[in-house]
Amino acid sequence: MAYETLIVEIEDDVALIRLNRPDAMNALNSKLLEELGDALAGAESNDKVRCIVLTGSDKAFAAGADIKEMSEKSFVEVFTSDLFGAGTETMLRCRKPIIAAVAGYALGGGCELAMMCDFIIAADNAKFGQPEINLGVVAGIGGTQRLTRLVGKSKSMDMHLTGRFMDAAEAERSGLISRVVPAAKLVPEAMAAARKIAEKSALATMAVKEAVNRSYETTLREGLLFERRLFHALFATEDQKEGMNAFLEKRQPQFRDK
Ligand code: HXC
Repeated sequence: MAYETLIVEIEDDVALIRLNRPDAMNALNSKLLEELGDALAGAESNDKVRCIVLTGSDKAFAAGADIKEMSEKSFVEVFTSDLFGAGTETMLRCRKPIIAAVAGYALGGGCELAMMCDFIIAADNAKFGQPEINLGVVAGIGGTQRLTRLVGKSKSMDMHLTGRFMDAAEAERSGLISRVVPAAKLVPEAMAAARKIAEKSALATMAVKEAVNRSYETTLREGLLFERRLFHALFATEDQKEGMNAFLEKRQPQFRDK
């Protein structure tokens, strides 16, 4: 599928989706969000894809929502069209793991898009920020909620109120990202992580996503019960027998998602 704002490649069970608006630092306009929704839905339904990597360019993962496109919109327009609401739903519904590979700027909606992925691997030149305050608005696709859960209230308030950027080292220290790698190795490292995930049983990777995401939505007691029941349920799968037998027989497991 040829897109105007994305480049999609499928290789070794992994879909690599690259945001591609080089003239606008990959700013998120309605076309890009529509195409991203389409590419994610395509990856989700494609049996050849077991994991997804979302990346941008060396300079920018995405510098936020497209300010040119939205600057003149009225309240009625953004409210009735649910600006950026619908466009991001597909990502939240995706059951296959999504890794954000971030180099350069991940600002505003760009930082929020990265946080919507399952985890973030960043290049050492990455810069994260929620600078919406400088435009007279606030984050609109989860920044105040997800950043606060990831880095805590104090740092989240600091980022949202001052609009300052966080470098990769601070982002790793704060728990926003899972690892930092040299910029030149970003996509290879993210693809290697994705290939490793692609080797697992998809039943187990889906269960991991459901259980970890549930921790944001529920009490600890309910979350623990949810996890335990998923753990129990996986004993009904062939992949559990295969995984445990392979360990005991000192060989690599051959998972079949059954
Ligand atoms: C539209 C953008 C853009 C954006 C950059 N560009 N960010 N266009 N929307 N968010 C365009 C610039 O206008 C410019 O186009 C080109 O990309 C290169 O950017 P420069 O500013 O010349 O580059 P540089 O000096 O290196 O600065 C990079 C930057 C800066 C720090 C990333 O561009 C910047 O501060 N951008 C805005 C970041 C921001 O405020 N993001 C939050 C948006 S609100 P021309 O045509 O002039 O060459 C938001 C709300 C989220 O995200 C709510 C839901 C999604």
